[in-house]
Amino acid sequence: MTKTRSPIRSNVGLKAVMAVTGILLVLFLVVHMLGNLKIFTGETSFDHYAHWLRDIGTPLLPHTWYLWIQRTVLTVAVVAHIVAATVLARRARAARPVKYAHRKKVNGSYAARTMRWGGVIILLFVIYHILDLTTGHLNPQGDASNPYGNVVADFAPERWYVTLFYTLALVTVGFHLRHGAYSAFRSLGQQTPRGERRARAGALVLAVALCAGYLVVPFAVLTGLVS
Ligand code: HEM
Repeated sequence: MTKTRSPIRSNVGLKAVMAVTGILLVLFLVVHMLGNLKIFTGETSFDHYAHWLRDIGTPLLPHTWYLWIQRTVLTVAVVAHIVAATVLARRARAARPVKYAHRKKVNGSYAARTMRWGGVIILLFVIYHILDLTTGHLNPQGDASNPYGNVVADFAPERWYVTLFYTLALVTVGFHLRHGAYSAFRSLGQQTPRGERRARAGALVLAVALCAGYLVVPFAVLTGLVS
């Protein structure tokens, strides 16, 4: 009996997995960025928002259940995104066992060439970030009841290197997102030159808006606008 491969394991299936999980992760990034911007509405409002995150869905769901459901969905999405990317990259390499003798120097955009390492850096950043602002282990204040204070302590001027590190991580997120969104827009069809231009512009706008929306928070603390 011949074994049939599940459609999800085909290249098209794996690209769909990358697109669906990528969209989920971008949705989280947009909502998380908008939530972070509440820091400009003051300490009480920001802390209230952070506590509300733990109560979403109550009384239908017990306290923090929504948060744990979201964490589970995001973790599954990240793992599926990485597995699909790894399998696709291996297949692409296996399809061309002999390397090009003269590999073209410019092979796609800078963003396209840095997807793998960009992804690794983002993963390491997220692990550090959770230990910093969620569990508080790497935060100078680390007080779960006062997320505003944790953010202010984190990006204090004397800890400029933390802002620098976040900036580098967020620029990496921006590049990763630009190429990921561009690929996703192209996969949705529209491969005419006009569609291509639109996909490129849309991806750039999304990446720059997210990057700027995130970075304004540490820089506001660094410059004393938020204290
Ligand atoms: C300057 C940029 C950022 C700031 C100021 C920031 C701020 C925060 C804060 C305050 C928390 C804790 C929320 C709470 O527990 O109440 C948090 C959690 C988190 N952030 Fe960020 N964040 C930033 C960028 C990012 C980026 C770029 C990512 C993803 C690539 C990310 C992913 C997460 C995740 C996964 C959590 C844990 C959420 C949970 O508890 O389930 N953050 N962030």
